[in-house]
Amino acid sequence: MSRQDILETTRKGSIERRLFDQIELDRLPRHVAIIMDGNGRWAKGRGLPRVEGHRAGIASVRETVETCARLDVPVLTLYAFSVENWKRPRSEVDVLMMLLKQYLRLELSTLMKNDIRFQVLGRLPDLPPDVVSELEAGMERTRNNRGLLFNIALNYGGRAEIVDACQAIVDEAVAVGKTPTIDEAFFAEHLYTSGVADPDLLIRTSGELRISNFLLWQIAYAEIWVTDTLWPDFRTQQLFEAIIDYQKRDRRYGGIATKARSTA
Ligand code: IPE
Ligand code: IPE
Ligand code: MG
Repeated sequence: MSRQDILETTRKGSIERRLFDQIELDRLPRHVAIIMDGNGRWAKGRGLPRVEGHRAGIASVRETVETCARLDVPVLTLYAFSVENWKRPRSEVDVLMMLLKQYLRLELSTLMKNDIRFQVLGRLPDLPPDVVSELEAGMERTRNNRGLLFNIALNYGGRAEIVDACQAIVDEAVAVGKTPTIDEAFFAEHLYTSGVADPDLLIRTSGELRISNFLLWQIAYAEIWVTDTLWPDFRTQQLFEAIIDYQKRDRRYGGIATKARSTA
């Protein structure tokens, strides 16, 4: 997949093409993170059960992953299931897990074809064993791919991640019998996102103005873009709008104005 594919698949004069022409390709976010929200409301608005919203949201995932790969965005992280989402009815959680398995099984060949590496961020061992084995197979198959890094945050919590990093640091210290000196870089190496650039752009759908325990450490200086669009209606058009808006921002990192650029 390439940027050329975007030109070939978007009609001249279409909204997507007009937006694509406004994107500065040498100033893309290095990492786009998305809180995919509003599936339940999307279904409710159509008089359907909530799970139909989750089902419909798969098409949005597919298109978002594909467009990021075509654009050459290096990293995409999608928030699919939080540690707090276990509070939902068992039947809804079961459908979400089933959809996840189904998505991976159906999409694996597309991920391979497009050189996409798949990773899970979250407490994997607490997920149902059949889901874990599907996820592990997906990670293993795509391990050597060098295109887009596609992270799925699953059974993920920002606070849980920070606690897990602390535990990992303590375990290492005990194993080597030496107390480490902790600085920000050392700490970040123990997060699930070790070695991955922090998100430059954080998108939330469905209009909620909150973070809901997502990537708390990593979004310290992310640019936030919220849309009222519900996740099942999110498409390339909204992704392009977010990137264009991101590119207009002045990023200061506590210093003085620089045009939105990826590096701190
Ligand atoms: C997001 O949609 C999907 C998950 C959190 C798994 P919701 O299910 O939260 O939809 P709303 O927010 O109730 O509309
Ligand atoms: C955030 O959405 C979690 C995911 C998108 C997976 P929620 O719907 O769970 O968040 P709240 O409850 O509105 O904060
Ligand atoms: Mg929600």
